[in-house]
Amino acid sequence: MSRAKRIPDLLPIEPVTRLSRIRAIARERVRAEHQDFDWGAKPRIPLWLSRRGYANILADLCYGEWATAEACQRMAGLLPEPEAQTCLLRQRDDELAHAEIYRRYLQRLGVGVEPSPGLIEIYQRCLSWAGDPLALVLAFDVVLEGEALRLQRFFARRLPCPLFRQINRAILVDEARHVAFGRLYGTMGIAALPSGERRALAKWLKTLWWDCARAIRSRNLGPGGWVLRAWHPPLDASWRAQSERLAAMGLFERDSGTAALRT
Ligand SMILES: [Fe+2]
Ligand SMILES: [Fe+2]
Repeated sequence: MSRAKRIPDLLPIEPVTRLSRIRAIARERVRAEHQDFDWGAKPRIPLWLSRRGYANILADLCYGEWATAEACQRMAGLLPEPEAQTCLLRQRDDELAHAEIYRRYLQRLGVGVEPSPGLIEIYQRCLSWAGDPLALVLAFDVVLEGEALRLQRFFARRLPCPLFRQINRAILVDEARHVAFGRLYGTMGIAALPSGERRALAKWLKTLWWDCARAIRSRNLGPGGWVLRAWHPPLDASWRAQSERLAAMGLFERDSGTAALRT
């Protein structure tokens, strides 16, 4: 058989490769567990932040983990590929373990707090999505997990508590695996979407990202909250980075570039 004739046969290999990478992700055995940390260490609260403001950050992180675990359970029941189901059930267990870690850290702070209503609204909006389950994967495992990953890296650099840093370093390894799954699966799903549906999905995700970023910015951190906010990069720059990642997955038309998606 000539080389020219064999090439078209090779083209469908890419999705297969993605699925085998997804299978490899599902097999990874590392998971952050609450017993892995030095719980004897006292949480160190930043001097410029109140105990309640600090606890509010933890309450949001903890809530995000619970809501993502619920989403994973739902997505695993909706997606047809066994590889994706395995990944999502594995992720569900990771998120439940993360929620327990944050809950325990929060308990050590000794303040009763609730997650911010803006964030609850966003997660509930995604959880009640009744359309294509691909949108759920992109919402949870690319947009919301991507933001959580960015925030956790930011907190690991800016917050002074050694115990919190220890926790975040371990959780970040799991979160990076979840985002990797979302990007692999999302790229396969996007490639199969008609352009009209792709545009509608891009718009929905853009609104979700902006609502999420604004909710995080406006959460109640008390009097010292402005310090943390001042360290955050401007929203436009963060959206640019996020939209470029989505563009690389094929969500936006190649000829329109990402410029049209900026606000
Ligand atoms: Fe998590
Ligand atoms: Fe995650």
